[in-house]
Amino acid sequence: MSLRHALKKAGINDEIIGKIEELGVEDVVRMTEEELSKKLSISRRDARRIIDILMEKRVGFRTALDIMKSPETRISTGVRSIDNILRGGIKAGSITEVYGRAGAGKSQFCFQMAVIAVDLGKVIYIDTERGFSPSRLRDISLRFRKNPDEILSKILVFSPGSVNDLRASIRSARDFARKERISLLIVDSLLSIFRSEYVGLEMLAERQKQLSLVLKILREISSMGTSVLFTNHVIGKISESFEDLAAGGYIIGHFPDLVLWLRKGVGSTRILRIVDSSELPEAEAVFTITKGGLEDI
Ligand SMILES: Nc1ncnc2c1ncn2[C@@H]1O[C@H](COP(=O)(O)OP(=O)(O)OP(=O)(O)O)[C@@H](O)[C@H]1O
Ligand SMILES: [Mg+2]
Repeated sequence: MSLRHALKKAGINDEIIGKIEELGVEDVVRMTEEELSKKLSISRRDARRIIDILMEKRVGFRTALDIMKSPETRISTGVRSIDNILRGGIKAGSITEVYGRAGAGKSQFCFQMAVIAVDLGKVIYIDTERGFSPSRLRDISLRFRKNPDEILSKILVFSPGSVNDLRASIRSARDFARKERISLLIVDSLLSIFRSEYVGLEMLAERQKQLSLVLKILREISSMGTSVLFTNHVIGKISESFEDLAAGGYIIGHFPDLVLWLRKGVGSTRILRIVDSSELPEAEAVFTITKGGLEDI
């Protein structure tokens, strides 16, 4: 069924369909329900219905040219060396994984991205490890000359204690993203909660099933234009010559658009490497972590 046909079948009239075509599918799917209902002078229910149909139908709808032409919003990391290798930062609507050992700076990276992403919309922080630190967010906000209270008021924090809870949090995040502009959704960390709840080989199949469900909702959220950033631990070292490997195996492996490996360097320095990306070459950036967050050396 064509897009036009699907919209008509849902009771959307020709005039509205014409306006949608004028605005462009890519722009319409990035709007919130409220924005679209105002723009087209229609009810929020109709706006929701239109967005749902467009999201469902747009697979295979875009040509490579459309993708090239669509405005590529990126969220800067606030570190020039990292922005350089990422060509400006994390892409809107993309899924990024940052993995590394304990103390590598994964949570610090998330805190900094949260502070910066607030410029583009609200941020949702799902903290599965009780690691969220408002005082670190304050320090980072001050470094970027932002009002800490204002920043903190735009970051919604969930602290799920179980896989069920995590799924509920991510579903709520999806509901938020439908109603208002959420620039960034952070899950710090994604896998630990699954690993502690589903222990042993006999639980592996169920664990992967539950994880797939969560990944599906994350993908849905990213397709609304919200960037998704999640952290991951590394699996035990096989030998000294091996590099760290992210946990989660093949289910996680092919899910993100961008995979970043974070590790400690000399002193307070850190090294971030692009391990996998559909558009960026493998590259490394060196920076440091200070009271004010991640900074260039
Ligand atoms: N106020 C600060 N000033 C300077 N460096 C800091 C400050 N706070 C944290 N750090 C640095 O950040 C490190 C902790 O990083 P972070 O908590 O992001 O690690 P992580 O990768 O999330 O680890 P985990 O896997 O345990 O969650 C500390 O070891 C320290 O080097
Ligand atoms: Mg952490």
